[in-house]
Amino acid sequence: MPIAVTGDDFRLDTATTSYWLRRTPFGHLEHLYYGPRLPAGDAEPVALKRTAVLGASVDYDPGDPLYSLDTLPLEWSGQGYGDYRFSPVEARMPDGVFASDFTYVGHEVVAGCVPIDTLPSAYDGDQTLRVTLADEATGVELDLYWTVFEAADVVTRRAVLRNAGSDRLTLRRLLSGMVDLPNRDLELHTFDGGWIKEAHRHVRPLTYGTHLNGSTTGASSNRHNPGFLLAESTATQDDGWVFGVNLIYSGNHLGVVELSNHDLARVGVGIHPDRFEWVLEPGEAFETPEMVLTVSDRGLNGASHHFHDFVGRHVVRGPWRDRERPVLLNNWEAHFFSFTESTLLDLAKRAKAIGVELFVLDDGWFGARDSDSAGLGDYEVNRRKLPGGLDRFATRLKRLGLDFGLWFEPEMVNEDSDLFREHPDWAVRTPGRRTTRGRNQLVLDLCNPKVQDHIIESVGRVLDSADITYVKWDMNRHVSDAYSPTLTHQGEFHHRYVRGLYRVLREIFEPRPHILLESCSSGGNRFDLGMLCFSPQIWASDDTDPVERLKIQEGLSYLYPPSTWAAHVSGAPHQQTLRATPLSTRFNVAAFGVLGYELDLKYLGRLELKELREQVDFYRRHRRTLQFGRFSRVRVPKGNKVQWQVVARDGASAVTGYFQTLAQASEGFDRLRVIGLAPTERYRIETRPQYLPLRRFGELVKHILPVELNPDGLVMRTAGKVRNVPDDVERYDASGAMLASGVLLHNQFVGSHYNEQTRLLGDFGSNLYVVELIDE
Ligand code: DGJ
Repeated sequence: MPIAVTGDDFRLDTATTSYWLRRTPFGHLEHLYYGPRLPAGDAEPVALKRTAVLGASVDYDPGDPLYSLDTLPLEWSGQGYGDYRFSPVEARMPDGVFASDFTYVGHEVVAGCVPIDTLPSAYDGDQTLRVTLADEATGVELDLYWTVFEAADVVTRRAVLRNAGSDRLTLRRLLSGMVDLPNRDLELHTFDGGWIKEAHRHVRPLTYGTHLNGSTTGASSNRHNPGFLLAESTATQDDGWVFGVNLIYSGNHLGVVELSNHDLARVGVGIHPDRFEWVLEPGEAFETPEMVLTVSDRGLNGASHHFHDFVGRHVVRGPWRDRERPVLLNNWEAHFFSFTESTLLDLAKRAKAIGVELFVLDDGWFGARDSDSAGLGDYEVNRRKLPGGLDRFATRLKRLGLDFGLWFEPEMVNEDSDLFREHPDWAVRTPGRRTTRGRNQLVLDLCNPKVQDHIIESVGRVLDSADITYVKWDMNRHVSDAYSPTLTHQGEFHHRYVRGLYRVLREIFEPRPHILLESCSSGGNRFDLGMLCFSPQIWASDDTDPVERLKIQEGLSYLYPPSTWAAHVSGAPHQQTLRATPLSTRFNVAAFGVLGYELDLKYLGRLELKELREQVDFYRRHRRTLQFGRFSRVRVPKGNKVQWQVVARDGASAVTGYFQTLAQASEGFDRLRVIGLAPTERYRIETRPQYLPLRRFGELVKHILPVELNPDGLVMRTAGKVRNVPDDVERYDASGAMLASGVLLHNQFVGSHYNEQTRLLGDFGSNLYVVELIDE
């Protein structure tokens, strides 16, 4: 069994990790060890020693001068008893003071998970340890939970605070968990950004003091993803210790890492305390969201693999959990708000012709929604655009052989909408204060059960009115003016909003399991484990430029598996960066997520459409591996390269992508490594065939043609519409060990020579390579 209790020691083991703690003689929970799995045995060698009284420390008890809470590695800490590090709890206790000292009362080990009543949580855990602590002075109780997910190598934590006292308790902060890790020259990796630049990884040394990673926007935000890593400074993608932390929550969050002056790194995460205040009357309890912890000594990839397995087996749920996701075309970048049924059907026919399976009608299909300043909230089909309604449109798509998906933004309202005119009190505004807007819209008050009911009913009605198999659930502004007339205590607003959102999602989608839900928030403004409990995939970013996506998808890959990142091929120059990139690279990057297209196909020529057909065909053949295989980042010792790979779960095949950002003149050799295959098995590795448009050669064409032609003239442009050049294809048979050491690839174009064995990458060029086991 993964949890063992011996005397005062609690040992939690997963397949490759151990997490040990113990009860001290004073009843506090001392952290002993978290790291690669240790055989059972005396924990004393790994425990922190306390053999000297540290100057300026506060003694917890006069009988033991060596026992100071400030220097003890703890699993939980209160306030006011000499621990001056960041506390996971701040409360005005029933006796009116801010001190709390939670000590051991009892414990229990139970099978599986203990679900959270008020929030989504991970499922199918192996065993749970519950330790009950109490603040002796007031009787307030705290249940701490550790759940072991053995095969995924994850331990989750959470807390439930119960006011067992006889007076009111006001909670100002309650993190989900905390742990004091002995420093190992750690660096903090966070995933930050903003609109169209989400999840960029930032690394800084863990210096003394407190480092905060949080969001107060009302959502988990594109500013700072709740997930973060603490890695040894010498760790690489494949070696070294890496700790990972995340939170199953979609609202304001705070991650804290405080390196103390005695080298303990206090790590905690939970609901952000900013403007949070929760009143607990006697007998009431507050449940935190679930904190997720992992550790690996196999580097950054090792920690990511644990997170990927955890998300795939214990967070994403329902029939879509491991069902291959359809290749879709979304009409947003093609049309914005301006379309008719016939322009949609024309796009749909072209989408079908390239092999797309699902047509997604984005914003603008309802009410007076011809721009982002009106109509939001009125989910009645716009008959001018769709005269036959959604049902007829869905039927027509079906006839074309396409499934139908639909966009909603149910948490928001435009003031210019029937919903707002009818229920102005449903919009979030603070009485007597200025109203602030984002994208011309207000937030609906999801704390209000009537608003929740309205969304459940109105969205549900649309979903049942036509054959809809996919929903894109958008949320396009941060929350401000937080206030709900339904609340007595406004400090509860943000958390109640998130709970309202979860109720709405549960009640709409649980009875409609055939619908694949993709959540979105202006791209990746709410990419978190809470949303993944409802939506198996999330729109990673409004940025579809593949060079930007290399940073965004790579950032997400540290915490979330590829089956969760929706990634689209769009037109170039890109609508977000004006950068022009090859069509092959747009696909090669998007192929590592859940593939979609988002461009106006009528502007594409015959050759490009053929290329798209081949892309979709390739993706569908390798879809299970690309969506659900073992994803790794491959270290390339060159600043202008990125390499990713994904290995099929049975180990018999793999796909790897080799991406060049800016070209360098006369570049040296490129080595392509494929890691994690069976060393002695033999594999064939082969480049996915792709094309070079003639314009890629610029004025160089005149060196290969017998007559001189203007590279941008009519003849060349016409030729470019009917001819392109097959790109270099390489093919080798090699053992898994050889592939791990690296295949040295054909030369890149070096300025002096070109033949069909030249890799012509230039700026933003890339290739995919397929690896297949040779059946001998
Ligand atoms: C923001 C989303 O991220 C886009 O993909 C698109 O759905 C627009 N909203 C529509 O308003």
